[in-house]
Amino acid sequence: MNLSENTVLITGGASGIGLALAKRFQQAGSQVIVCGRRADKLREAQREVPGLLTRVCDVAQPAEREELLRWVQQEHPQLNVLVNNAGIQRRLQVADEEPWEVRQQEIAINLDAPIHLCSLFVRHLQQQPRAAIINVTSGLAFTPMAIAPVYCATKAALHSFTQSLRYQLQDTAVEVLEIVPPAVNTDLGGAGLHTFGADVNEFADSVMARLANGEQEVGFGTSEVRRLASRSELDAAMEAMNARFS
Ligand SMILES: NC(=O)c1ccc[n+]([C@@H]2O[C@H](COP(=O)([O-])OP(=O)(O)OC[C@H]3O[C@@H](n4cnc5c(N)ncnc54)[C@H](OP(=O)(O)O)[C@@H]3O)[C@@H](O)[C@H]2O)c1
Repeated sequence: MNLSENTVLITGGASGIGLALAKRFQQAGSQVIVCGRRADKLREAQREVPGLLTRVCDVAQPAEREELLRWVQQEHPQLNVLVNNAGIQRRLQVADEEPWEVRQQEIAINLDAPIHLCSLFVRHLQQQPRAAIINVTSGLAFTPMAIAPVYCATKAALHSFTQSLRYQLQDTAVEVLEIVPPAVNTDLGGAGLHTFGADVNEFADSVMARLANGEQEVGFGTSEVRRLASRSELDAAMEAMNARFS
């Protein structure tokens, strides 16, 4: 994809991977809007990246997703790139009791939101001369980590949805791209849980260079191996990873 002269909306773009992508889109000459729930985190991102536009939005709420589209169409009608990046990761035992509303949040943020936002934004994007939808999944879409079972299920489903969407839009001006991160050192799941991961800047540099080269599905390190692995290689990788985390 062309990284310059876009107007890009990145959900969850005030921190971690989303912020790293925001900086690079802006450096390449695109206008970037990031959204998230925490106004203070959005202001912090704006101080770090002058020129960044921000919007408070909880993508878990269907009405807020609809309002986001209305706001974009009114204030930034030239928007041509949607990056579905917002996500949370919860470690849980399926057998533990907790209210369904608590457990369902992860599905609402990681899966309902990107599917609904794609559904809402696609007609707007189809009216642009060139456009892209970029979904952020995970290496865990390919090899589930049993300590985060709902998270892994949402990412596997989003990978599948992304493939179908790409097929449906193949004859349009809307490119459908997927970023497949491995463990990256961010605050995902809570501060201090991903300190073992790849450096977020090295990851983002590599991903953006490959998107610019026209690749549609981009991993990094272990997630690049996983997304291309055979079933027997995936089974072995899942065994090894879960033995480490159990
Ligand atoms: N880090 C990794 O190891 C890793 C690996 C594979 C995939 N990923 C994926 O990469 C994406 C970015 O995660 P990250 O690692 O950069 O973690 P992060 O720093 O925690 O970023 C997640 C962002 O999502 C936003 N967010 C969460 N719930 C939201 C909601 N309901 N509405 C709007 N925004 C929301 C958060 O902001 P607020 O809390 O202010 O809303 C935050 O800015 C996620 O989809 C994650 O699953 C990460």
